[in-house]
Amino acid sequence: MTGLCQNKIALVTGGAAGIGRASAVARPREGALVMVADRADCTETVQIIQAAGGTARTVRVDVADEASVEAMIEATVAAFGRLDLAFNNAGVSGEMSKTADYSSADWHRVIAINLTGVWLCMKYELRQMLKQGGGAIVNTASVAGLVGMSHAPAYCAAKHGVVGLTKNAALEYARSNIRVNAVCPGGVLTDMTESAERELPGFLDKLTKHEPMGRLAAPAEIASAVVWLLSAGASFMTGHAMAVDGGFIAR
Ligand SMILES: NC(=O)c1ccc[n+]([C@@H]2O[C@H](COP(=O)([O-])OP(=O)(O)OC[C@H]3O[C@@H](n4cnc5c(N)ncnc54)[C@H](O)[C@@H]3O)[C@@H](O)[C@H]2O)c1
Repeated sequence: MTGLCQNKIALVTGGAAGIGRASAVARPREGALVMVADRADCTETVQIIQAAGGTARTVRVDVADEASVEAMIEATVAAFGRLDLAFNNAGVSGEMSKTADYSSADWHRVIAINLTGVWLCMKYELRQMLKQGGGAIVNTASVAGLVGMSHAPAYCAAKHGVVGLTKNAALEYARSNIRVNAVCPGGVLTDMTESAERELPGFLDKLTKHEPMGRLAAPAEIASAVVWLLSAGASFMTGHAMAVDGGFIAR
């Protein structure tokens, strides 16, 4: 699978770790030049890409802040001249409590990052892609964007919202040569799931038991689906929410 994204300019948010890092690292292997964005330091991700002979730059962003998102797109275009592929992946898990116990502060924080953040990124990416005459976007939703998941009301609502935003934008830009899809991972072993285990001991065990394959995914297993969805190989796919979940929602 080489050259799927040859000479394309790619942006990934949440690229400092986990699924975002795995996706940022996978794309130069397919020929893309990558802007790695995160509110955290992405130097390590950039170094991994450069050590493998790829081209990458980094920019700090808070996806919940409109001015910061606009500046991220400006920095990408200033560095590489255009934006062809965007992976809107930054996200947080939020508190783990039932709906009636959930705090308003965490509700607003999770919605701001996981839902509004994806919309803000799409807003400025789409403006740039329209100017250029095309592009492809993948948003990270979750299996929690397709089915209910207890003890995560804001996360579940935000991820269902990401699926809706994806379908809406796919219809709006289908005739503008811009495809918009979502990836819906099942349980993936990353900082996010490891910190959930610290908050709620036994979480990882429970998550693993719910996975039909009896294991969690490695970030690279999600990244390979993302790279393909962004590539010309998925040229007739738009508005799709693709579960990469080891069979989680097949039950
Ligand atoms: N790990 C899983 O099991 C799983 C399952 C389904 C979906 N997801 C989704 O995958 C995405 C990536 O999660 P991950 O598991 O790799 O977690 P992670 O914690 O390893 O990575 C998330 C990244 O997002 C960044 N981030 C958080 N808030 C940000 C903000 N406001 N602005 C910019 N960057 C911000 C973090 O700094 C971090 O680098 C998230 O959207 C998450 O909801 C994860």
